[in-house]
Amino acid sequence: MQGVFITIEGVEGSGKSTQLLRLSERLRRLGLPVVVSKEPGGTALGRELRRLLLERHVSGETWCPEAELLLFYADRAQHLETVIRPALAEAKIVLVDRFEDSTRAYQGASGVPESSLDRLNDVVLRGLKPHLTVMLDMDPEGSLQRVEVRNLALGSEYAETRFDEATLDFHRRVRNRFLIIAQKHPNRVALIPARNPVDQVEASIWVRVAPLLRSAGFGVD
Ligand code: TMP
Repeated sequence: MQGVFITIEGVEGSGKSTQLLRLSERLRRLGLPVVVSKEPGGTALGRELRRLLLERHVSGETWCPEAELLLFYADRAQHLETVIRPALAEAKIVLVDRFEDSTRAYQGASGVPESSLDRLNDVVLRGLKPHLTVMLDMDPEGSLQRVEVRNLALGSEYAETRFDEATLDFHRRVRNRFLIIAQKHPNRVALIPARNPVDQVEASIWVRVAPLLRSAGFGVD
């Protein structure tokens, strides 16, 4: 039996973490072998890269787009080699919060050309693609409000605010890029409205996940 690789994508505040938790709990209740991870930061070294990428530095210096891109790919390369590929080889169900589509959406919106992403994918992904990408779609006005509430709840020392603080226009461009990816890859990407109630979103995700797992030989009935 082969492993199954599922990614979850969307703008900040679209409910990825909640839905990933619900899906992983459901799979565990069914007794299935699940590995849950995220990018950036799915490995010990990746967590250091996550800090470097997402926290504001005291010097005020920011990454130039190419440096930022390479750091996201360094995180991804390490994650693929030490977490994702081994888990898939052991026939596990691998759920990852953000992957390549986030790079296309965010770094693409920051001006990185598609051709650079294609070349890095050749080196790092080497043809590996998620079997399914759950894309939670929401207008950035609504999703950023949710982020503000979350950041307030986490307190003033919450440091990972770099992309949260980008302009509404930037987040609109990110969302549009996600929508274009969904249009381009209708078989891989399940585009799910994230404004709906949490239970309804969970049910829509399950409608796409269950047949995939069944076809891979996992018992989900
Ligand atoms: P999150 O995991 O809490 O959603 O935050 C990760 C942030 O990193 C989010 O703002 C999106 C951003 N990001 C990129 O810009 N490029 C990438 O390739 C990935 C994986 C994340």
